[in-house]
Parts: sequence; C-alpha cells; structure tokens
Amino acid sequence: MSQENSIKLYKCRGKVAELENYCFDKDISGKTGIAHTRWATHGEPNDQNAHPHLSEDGQLALIHNGIIENYVILKKELMNRGYIFKSDTDTEVLVHLIQDIYIHGECSLATAVRQALKEVEGTYALAILSADNPSELIVAKKGSPLLIGIGKDEYFIASDGAPIVKYTKKVVYLEDGDVATIHPDKPIAITNINNEVRHPYTEKLEITLEQLEKGGFPHYMLKEIYEQPRAVLDSMRGRINTVKDVVSLGGILEYESKMMQAKRFIIAACGTSWHAGLVGKYLFESLVRLPVEVEYASEFRYRNPIITEEDVLIVISQSGETADTLAALELAKGKGATVIGICNVVGSTLARNTHAGSYTHAGPEIGVASTKAFTTQVTVLALMALSLSRKKGSISSSYYHQLINDLESIPDKISKVLLQNDKIAEIAKFFLDKRNAIYLGRGVNYPVALEGALKLKEISYIHAEGYPAAEMKHGPIALIDEEMPTVVIATQQETYGKIASNIQEVRARKGKIISIVSEGDVNVKAMSDFFIEVPHTEELLVPLVSSVPLQLLAYHVAVQRGCDVDKPRNLAKSVSVE
Ligand code: AGP
Repeated sequence: MSQENSIKLYKCRGKVAELENYCFDKDISGKTGIAHTRWATHGEPNDQNAHPHLSEDGQLALIHNGIIENYVILKKELMNRGYIFKSDTDTEVLVHLIQDIYIHGECSLATAVRQALKEVEGTYALAILSADNPSELIVAKKGSPLLIGIGKDEYFIASDGAPIVKYTKKVVYLEDGDVATIHPDKPIAITNINNEVRHPYTEKLEITLEQLEKGGFPHYMLKEIYEQPRAVLDSMRGRINTVKDVVSLGGILEYESKMMQAKRFIIAACGTSWHAGLVGKYLFESLVRLPVEVEYASEFRYRNPIITEEDVLIVISQSGETADTLAALELAKGKGATVIGICNVVGSTLARNTHAGSYTHAGPEIGVASTKAFTTQVTVLALMALSLSRKKGSISSSYYHQLINDLESIPDKISKVLLQNDKIAEIAKFFLDKRNAIYLGRGVNYPVALEGALKLKEISYIHAEGYPAAEMKHGPIALIDEEMPTVVIATQQETYGKIASNIQEVRARKGKIISIVSEGDVNVKAMSDFFIEVPHTEELLVPLVSSVPLQLLAYHVAVQRGCDVDKPRNLAKSVSVE
C-alpha cells in the first residue's frame, strides 16, 4: 500500500488466507494498493520471491504476471550498475529498470515505465506504484490479460472480471502494448509504448456475484459438475431451431461458407480443451467429412507448421487467456488461415482476437479442474459439425435429426448420471491407497479416457494415464497388477466387443476393472469389479455423458484424500504465461 511518501509491503508464500493471517494485526490502510498471487516461473515459491517487489530505495513497488525472457541480460546490466537483487525472480528486474530510468531520467513514472518496457522481451501484466505519488498507479499489458474496473471515485485492476464484479461491472480491457495511468480523480489515460494516446471503450461484465458463490456446495468443482445439465442447455440455447429445422451459431455464421470450403481443420488447445478438441475431430471427420488435425498449442506454435489460407484453425479455451493457445491463434492468423474460437469468457483475449467464434455459456468456472467447460465445448463442437454437415449435405437427414434429438436429451441424461454420486463416492474408496491408475477408451471415448486420467492426476495427485484400449498390448499392459486400477469406458459402440476383449486382457493379469457402461449392459458389468451406468447415447455424443462419472470419481478420490480440490497444488485456472 502507498501512503504519503511511504510504501508498506506485506507478502508471504502460500494461499491468500495465510497473507490474511499475516496481516491480521498490521496497518494495511492506504490510498492505493497492489497485490498478486504469484505463479512461480523463476524462483521457488517463498517469501522473498513473492510479489510485490520493491525498488532499492523502497519508493517503487511492482507486481507482474508474465515472463521476462531477457531478464538474465537485463539483470546483469543492472548489477553492473550496482543494483542488488533480493529475489530469484525475473520480475525484480522490472522494478530496478524502471527506477533506474525514473531517478536518472527526471521523467514521470509512466514515461519511465514506457522507456523500460522498450528494453523488455516477454509477456507482462504489471502494476507499479510510487511513494512520492501515492494516488497514482501505472499499469501495462503485453500478452498477459489485464482489465481496469471503473468504480465510483475508485478504480480496480485485475487479470479477469471475477474478483471485481462485486464492486463494478464497467471495465476496460487493455490491449497489448497499452500503458495506463490511473488516478481516482482523473479519467484513465492510456497510451501505447510510444506514448501515442489510445481511446478505450467501456464494456460490461456478463458474470454475476451469485454465479461466483458456491451455492451451498462444499467445492466449486462439485457445484460446476452439477451445473452441467443447465450449462449444456445454455450452450444450445437459441442455436437449435426445430421449427426451421436448422442449427445455427450466430457467432460463426459469416464464416460458415469459408469453413465448408476449407481444405483442412486444425484444432489447437491445451489440457482439457485439447481433449474436447480430440472429440471435435471425431465429430467433424464423421459428420462434415473434412480432415481434422488436433494440436497441442504449445507444440504447434513452435513447430513452424504448414498453414495456408484454405485452412481453418479452431482454438478452444475455457479462459480465453491461455498463452500457448493465443500464440497458436496469432500464428495461424498471421499465415492467412481463418481462426474460429470456442471460449467461455466474454471479452477474453481469445474472443477479441479470433475472426469469429462461439461462447460456451457455461457460466464462470472457478474450480481449477475443468468440468462443465469440457461438456459445453463438446456441445458447441457438435453444434458446429451439425450445422456444417447439414449445409454440406454430408450426412443423411434422418441421422442429422437423430443427433439433434439426442443432443437435446443430454441435459436430462447428465442429471441421471449425477444421481449415482453416492455410489461413485463409494467406488472412490478403492483408489485412496493407490499410486497409479490407467484409463482406457476406444474411438470417441479415447479422449474421455485422457480427460478422466487428467482429472484424477490434477486434483488427487495420483499418477494416471489414458490410452486407446488397443494400445495396452504395445506396452502399458506391463503395468497391470492387483494394485493398478483400470478405468474402462465401455459404452455401447461399434467397438464394444473389442473393448470387452481388452478388459479380459487386464483381468487375466489380475487388474481391477472400474467400467463405465451403457444402461442395461450385461457382459462388461460381469467382468467389472465396479461399474457405473450411463444412459444410452449416440456414439458421437457419448463423451457428454461418459465424462461426468469420471469427473465425480476424481472429485471424490481427491476429497477423501484430503486434497484442496478447487485449488490443487502447482496449478492455476488460467495459464496466461508460457
Ligand atoms: C483442466 O482441468 C486444467 N485446468 C487445464 O488443463 C486447462 O484445461 C488448460 O489449462 C486449458 O485452459 P483453457 O481451456 O482455459 O485454455
């Protein structure tokens, strides 16, 4: 906090609650304050590396979300000029660099920030305040998300809308290269790094406080799992017109003809969104009959991929702020491809930089482990594929209607799966003392196996791998013994018989089978130690029901192991740094 000619600094490692305890008896009053929950990139999570970082004279304080790629060179230059570093972070370089220009340049703090950022390579959302001008705050953005909330005689800065919606819904999203000067008694002044004025426009936050509350659930993750029937319904709302017998997504309508003429679809994403992309491949290739490549955005962006103007890139992201996915977007756009976005956060960087796109309307997703974002992403991909296949005539009218009818029944089917929550909590007990698990699926259930394994890994810290079931014979089957839980998604599908044989192979090696089966199943149930039934669903849409029991399984294993389900260690909800 800044007060007349002084800055008070309080920081510690750990959760925000620990900082609250630490500040319990401290004077935290002040005119302007900055705070940051650091996600460690350079330097381990400890008190010294926590933010804010102070200038040597203690007159400037800075917080930063992003990565300074040339920090080693800058640090060396600053150390040669006598600066002493207190932390191992890249961020500390920024405050010394800005101070160096500020005290020697006899210029405003905003000018010093602009000058300093000209020497910086990398990404940043930063805020800096000074003791000699305690009411003023300078913020800057490049790569990492940053918005300014406009309150009554006060301003807020944040990386997304959720933390400030309680105080205001009026926001200004900063663009890359922006440097803004914020003072409670003056309008926001924004320039670019060359001091050219930029005139921002105010937007309205779509989220509500009520959506940000747990609504009586013990964890956001469980609340969000239970929100899926409503979320899937909202992601279909106004997009299926049974009267006119069309599926239309307003956000991509203008680009549908380009999409239909595309030579190839590329889907780029990370984590759970990448798994949704894999389901998208099955949907688009089966229904639209176009080749689809699914790429990890982090690999795609550095592989110098062959991209042409006849390509369509679909970028999928819950947050719309994932750095690697945004880089894949910019890369493909730069090479002339049409870039379509599927995103859950209105006003996010992805939504503002794609050519067109569709929101998933899942509502805010707060639990780090993505759940309703996955099912609504798959729903939007299915709607896109149905809309294009209808216009292209690549599937029969009867199959088209079958899929539409089944899609509209998904919310009820998910509600039915949720009724088995207690049973799944019982099955979770089997995992509590296990160190590993394997998830198997075939066809469109292979991405579901990957997703189930990711959920277990990221919140219960049990190592888990997802595989196409037939791959077992080529290595992973060596891992099978009584201690290895094997979760098999064996819903009724073309390869049902094949996956039943895969289950036999695991049982033959004393592996324990936990199966996801279609209602009324007999054969696989008989071979399983535990089973969970899901309603019959069209094969291409089955991930919308078969993924839900795996979300609940991971949730209950994590809860029963005493893990912090909503904020698992080492993870952030939106990975806005590379
Ligand atoms: C999933 O549970 C994880 N939180 C993570 O893998 C996530 O899916 C990934 O970081 C992508 O995030 P995005 O959808 O916001 O781009």
